[in-house]
Amino acid sequence: MKKIVVIGKRSNLSRSLKDKITNIHLFGSSDVLSNNFQKKIKDIKPNIIIYNSFFPLNKFNEKTNLDEIIKQTTFVSNIFLKKISAIKSVKKIILSSSSALKNLFISSFENKNKRSLYLSLKLLNEQMLSKYCNDKKIDLVIARLFNLYGNYDNSSIIYKIIQSKQNNKKIHIYNNGFFKRDFIHTNDVVDSYIKFIDTKSSGIFEVGTGHSITINELIHLSGIKKSLVKFSKSNTLEVANSEADTEKLKKIIDVNKFSKIYSYFTSYNSDYIIINSINLSIPHIKSAEYSNVLETLDSNWVSPVGPQINQLEIDLSNYNNFGYCAAVTSGTAAIHLALINLGVGKNDYVICQSFTFVASANPILYQQAKPIFIDSESDTLSMDPKALEYCLINLKKKNIKPKAVIVAHIYGMPGKIYELLKICRKYKVKLIEDSAETLGASINNIKCGTFGDIGVYSFNGNKIITSGGGGAVISKKQSDIKKIKSLSTQSRENYIYYHHKNIGYNYRMSNVLASIARAQLKDLDNKIRNRKKNFIFYKKYFKKFSNINIMDYNGSSKFLHKSNYWFTNILFNKIKFNQLLGLIEDLKKENIETRPLWKPMHMQPIFKNCQYYGNNNSEKFFQRGLSLPSSSNLTIYELKYIKSKLEKYLTKYE
Ligand SMILES: Cc1ncc(COP(=O)(O)O)c(C=O)c1O
Repeated sequence: MKKIVVIGKRSNLSRSLKDKITNIHLFGSSDVLSNNFQKKIKDIKPNIIIYNSFFPLNKFNEKTNLDEIIKQTTFVSNIFLKKISAIKSVKKIILSSSSALKNLFISSFENKNKRSLYLSLKLLNEQMLSKYCNDKKIDLVIARLFNLYGNYDNSSIIYKIIQSKQNNKKIHIYNNGFFKRDFIHTNDVVDSYIKFIDTKSSGIFEVGTGHSITINELIHLSGIKKSLVKFSKSNTLEVANSEADTEKLKKIIDVNKFSKIYSYFTSYNSDYIIINSINLSIPHIKSAEYSNVLETLDSNWVSPVGPQINQLEIDLSNYNNFGYCAAVTSGTAAIHLALINLGVGKNDYVICQSFTFVASANPILYQQAKPIFIDSESDTLSMDPKALEYCLINLKKKNIKPKAVIVAHIYGMPGKIYELLKICRKYKVKLIEDSAETLGASINNIKCGTFGDIGVYSFNGNKIITSGGGGAVISKKQSDIKKIKSLSTQSRENYIYYHHKNIGYNYRMSNVLASIARAQLKDLDNKIRNRKKNFIFYKKYFKKFSNINIMDYNGSSKFLHKSNYWFTNILFNKIKFNQLLGLIEDLKKENIETRPLWKPMHMQPIFKNCQYYGNNNSEKFFQRGLSLPSSSNLTIYELKYIKSKLEKYLTKYE
């Protein structure tokens, strides 16, 4: 029978463990510091230690000297590790940590408040234990717990709500009630710990129910009177929303003081266990989106009219430092309106990039116009200027003047827009810049979308920022945007009654969604930084593969291209398409989503009768390219997990 020592007498979890597991010896911090602790432990000969570290946060305030806090909070852990280092029987340590550390690597660390300190100290403890277990070659389970309630806990929010319900007592919630949280009963946590004890396990586990609920929903479910609940406006005390960034964290806590624990930690390579699947590109929502939606609902502007839409258009123009903007329902709608604005109609020719998502080309068909497809270049993945010019010369010979060219900057990388624009000007054809995938990317610090006659963006769920579906059209001409806004609102004329001279569309963005987009736009540069970190991580890893190139283009001395790193893609020098699909299947079994690059439009059955000019670059990208998980909220653990699984399968392709 396994012998188990639990440290942390005052913890609700420790006491619940003791209730359920018979062979447990429970010690408090003062026991650890006492002289006979080592002897007691030696006599027990524990196989497993559960460390429910306790931080006396109530002793500190924002003015407390940081060194002092660190000394005190790591004091017990340090002594403890020293005292158990001679105990050979220990095979595993289970450390109770916080689920709030999940987002640690991805966000900003603005507030030097207690919650941030709490996270920093939890992290420090994970690092200390990681180093120790790594050195001693014993298993470490880091259990990142969500919000616990039940048994001995009479400070949890759920306990407070129950009390309020029973006794009509007032309660104070220290946030605005709109944060999602996963509440897990201590008994369920104990069950997870029994699994950690009974099975060979190590790594980082998120221990929660997988179902989250806001405190507002909880209050609603409990049926307590709203008048009894007082919310704080402040959200700085929220664990779930306290976000930290290691760089800034390192500045605040000099981790080098602890014998380079930080570097041990980051090179610590245990097999991380990832519970949820890792997708290619998912939304990254923070607290500002919640409060914006709440405010918008409160204002009752719940329609495709309202101040959030107008302000989003101003925000986007300010971000781009450019022209005018119309917010619409999707990127596809934006392209459709751009084509209508340029007068594209039945049987007109529109030149379009072949290597793109189908939404670049579909609106050409909506207008019953005829697409002609152009290949991409190997470096930028965007339209090949030479192929475009060749096409235009050819069309000129046949006396065909196309109405527009749609250039799509792909996967976040700017195309050679100056060259393309020059050719369009030479042949007097308008350029639509499909920047759905490149919001925030730039050439010589001028933003993508602002070069052509009209630019479009998408705020779909997979994009670098999202409104949960949406898009925008931009132009330097106010008259274009005025017309596009009119088209997007059923072409309603300015009369007191409904009067229409032209066909119109219901393409205006909802005011509620605009409020989400506004919060997301404020965080765009941060999201670009995070995606760039993913790219750098992958780039470093793929260096050793001679058969794999990471797709990247930084421009020339004259044109500095800056990607928004929406997607990290790799290209195999040699791989068969069914091998690529096999690799995707293998990774899917490991809960990692990957995908071939865009299938070119000229290869799509729907466009099989269209003309195509090119050198088969886009076929090559499709058959040998792979998109990797690239979300801005990927954690370093997820990246390391992906790396370990790539390592498992990629060696086959070397
Ligand atoms: C290149 C490109 N153009 C257009 C779109 C269409 O945007 P939406 O999905 O918002 O309609 C997308 C993405 O979906 C895209 O990747």
